[in-house]
Amino acid sequence: MSSLAPQRPGMPARQISASSFAEEFTAARNRLKKLDFEHEHEQDHDDESPMASPALSSSDSLTSEEPSPLGSEDGDSMDDASPATPITPFTPMADQDSNDDVADNFAFAFDIDGVLVRGGKPIPEAIEAMKVLNGENEYGIKVPYIFLTNGGGKSESERCADLSQQLELEVSEGQFICGHTPMRELSSRYSGSVLVVGGEGEKCRQVAETYGFRDVITPGDILKANASTAPFRKLTPAELSASRDLLSRPGVGKLSDIVIEAVFVFADSRDWASDLQIILDIAQSKGGRLETRSETFDEGPPIFFSHNDVLWSAAHEHVRLGMGALRKIVETVFEETTGGKKLTTYAFGKPQVGTFEFAERLLQKWRAEKHGLVAGRGEKRGVGTVYFVGDTPESDIRGTNAMDEKSGREGTEWYSILVKTGVYQEGTEPRFKPRKLVGNVLDAVNHGIRREMARKMKTSSGGQGQGQRGLWPLGDVTGLKKMGEVEGRMQECVISEH
Ligand code: G3P
Ligand code: MG
Repeated sequence: MSSLAPQRPGMPARQISASSFAEEFTAARNRLKKLDFEHEHEQDHDDESPMASPALSSSDSLTSEEPSPLGSEDGDSMDDASPATPITPFTPMADQDSNDDVADNFAFAFDIDGVLVRGGKPIPEAIEAMKVLNGENEYGIKVPYIFLTNGGGKSESERCADLSQQLELEVSEGQFICGHTPMRELSSRYSGSVLVVGGEGEKCRQVAETYGFRDVITPGDILKANASTAPFRKLTPAELSASRDLLSRPGVGKLSDIVIEAVFVFADSRDWASDLQIILDIAQSKGGRLETRSETFDEGPPIFFSHNDVLWSAAHEHVRLGMGALRKIVETVFEETTGGKKLTTYAFGKPQVGTFEFAERLLQKWRAEKHGLVAGRGEKRGVGTVYFVGDTPESDIRGTNAMDEKSGREGTEWYSILVKTGVYQEGTEPRFKPRKLVGNVLDAVNHGIRREMARKMKTSSGGQGQGQRGLWPLGDVTGLKKMGEVEGRMQECVISEH
């Protein structure tokens, strides 16, 4: 399996004696792993393709917003855990068999805006956190991870290139999901004309075409064909030349010759007023036919949003309005202008459980492809715990808790960690309670790895093992003290086991 990530130049390798604790520890850990392996793989593992499109949520299904229960069985307190002693970067022994240095029972999934990046710039601790996950930690382990963002507006490969630059390591499409990724699945269902809204210039049209949508129309094309569509919106010369001539199409003499089968809001709108007008025109049309008006206002085509974030954290010190706000405005103004008719729209993205199931399938695939972690014949669950690190309670934490709830005791544990570097404001009560609240993503990674190491030590010292929820907490001080004790015992037991 792949060699450990390149070490940070100039990092002093921790010099320890030949029969050093690290080697002992690794040996013991491998023994533990074998133990775990037998223990862990006892349930069935569904091989659904990761590409199956996640469940959509419609605007009328998002009413019951029961916050998920707090203080789950293992007593992990949500209190504002000051970051545990950061995991000291450590150079694993060169001759260690890196194959076994990949954590096989837990993984991380990261939100991007407000956790790793703000306004396009990396959050400092993010770079450090990635290094820790790629082996620069005292256990010398590598931990698989994926990225799950509601953001979008560029192709997955472009976003991965941006993220690779921001995080100073290679990010592959195989470990990346953005808000509109699941929309690819709908290109076979809507083979006629679709309207794609949002993002910079022509970017979203290009992404939609790579997804297989055959006839992608943008608000710019409609404004070019009829400038009075949005009276105060004047296309710039660049936009005019980039937009397509709808009226020069064969068989199209006027805009009402074009029927929009579905509307997709791929990314945050760059012009809310004209996008709102055009989306509402189509929602109130006769079956999506441009420039027509329905008498009953219930003949419009479906409208899909790639997510439902009302707020998100960008470069500004205060949170900014997101696509979810535009969605609410579309529905409210529709109701206002149709004598109270309700408009149902659909949202992908977090917090939909379907999106997390999609992510879990992608993670299993990534663990198999990148790290060779595959469940053997008759073996059951894949990854034991996924630590999801997010900054928005309404999407990241709510979705992770709901996924954890859904996958139940037998399934993969989805453990929600909320950071303070984004939407969540310190000192406020999050509407959806995380299992852990920490300062930043590096604290989150430290917390997850230590919790897992404590579990392993607990298992090795005959305590409750993996898969058994209700292990003793790690975040709080007592946990740390125990950590020290266990480590001590670990040394003892390693030696004693011999
Ligand atoms: O527009 C994207 C934003 O709403 C949130 O992105 O990465 O925090 O899910 P992210
Ligand atoms: Mg975020």
